[in-house]
Amino acid sequence: MSEDPDIPPFFEVRELRQTLGGHEVLRGVSLTVPQGKTTVILGGSGAGKSILLRHLNGLMKPLSGSVSVLGTDLGPLPEKALRPIRRRIGVLFQDGALFDSMSVGENVGFPLREQGVRDRVAIAARVDEVLSLVGLQGQESKRPDALSGGMRKRVSLARALAADPDCLLYDEPTAGLDPILSESITRLIGRLQKELRLTSVMVTHHLGAMRWVADQVLFLKEGVVRFAGTPEGLEESEDPAIREFLNADAMGRK
Ligand SMILES: Nc1ncnc2c1ncn2[C@@H]1O[C@H](COP(=O)(O)OP(=O)(O)OP(=O)(O)O)[C@@H](O)[C@H]1O
Ligand SMILES: [Mg+2]
Repeated sequence: MSEDPDIPPFFEVRELRQTLGGHEVLRGVSLTVPQGKTTVILGGSGAGKSILLRHLNGLMKPLSGSVSVLGTDLGPLPEKALRPIRRRIGVLFQDGALFDSMSVGENVGFPLREQGVRDRVAIAARVDEVLSLVGLQGQESKRPDALSGGMRKRVSLARALAADPDCLLYDEPTAGLDPILSESITRLIGRLQKELRLTSVMVTHHLGAMRWVADQVLFLKEGVVRFAGTPEGLEESEDPAIREFLNADAMGRK
């Protein structure tokens, strides 16, 4: 993808290696995520997608190699110095990770309270605003366990947006949803990205989502980048691992 040399990338990952439980899960991954664009990370189960995502906001530190955010190498930074960087990055975790003991409104307002915002009126106004963005206006007092899977995903998305991040990391935002809900969440993500001009990194198994939102795609297999380029380039790839992945989709398994 052509990139403007005057705009530094949001993330720059170089030769990232990570070992977990004696197993090399990332084996020299490099990736450039341009600002304001959407990067999709594809790959089968266990490929290292979630682990890669956890390095982008410094939740995990590289064993070797580096991860930079807007030119700052996260590796040497102490936890305290990571906090202001993490504030710019909203995360939608693979399991949604809502607090069932809190109402929808409390969940969505949580990142603001964590950042020290104490003005209840301001928090309520922002919660109302982001719930409207995801089509859940007026649902503040509901309990997460009383919501459908699709609504829970939308609440998680509202929570990730609450603190007005510059970047969103999504881990399988459509997993566990039926095809119709999955498409509506994908469209919502695509729309939010355009409206808010977010930099986004989305991990997914779902090729439909990739086709809808991706500016660039990374295909991982066993911790190695097998493809980096445009969605069209991926679909034309002759790499057997990628063909297998794409054909599984054509058979309706993705
Ligand atoms: N805490 C851990 N300890 C040991 N191994 C781990 C740990 N977390 C992940 N792994 C291993 O790291 C590899 C990559 O895991 P990761 O969660 O990144 O996969 P993934 O691509 O996100 O898969 P999925 O599509 O199933 O979510 C897997 O082999 C997994 O078993
Ligand atoms: Mg995962």
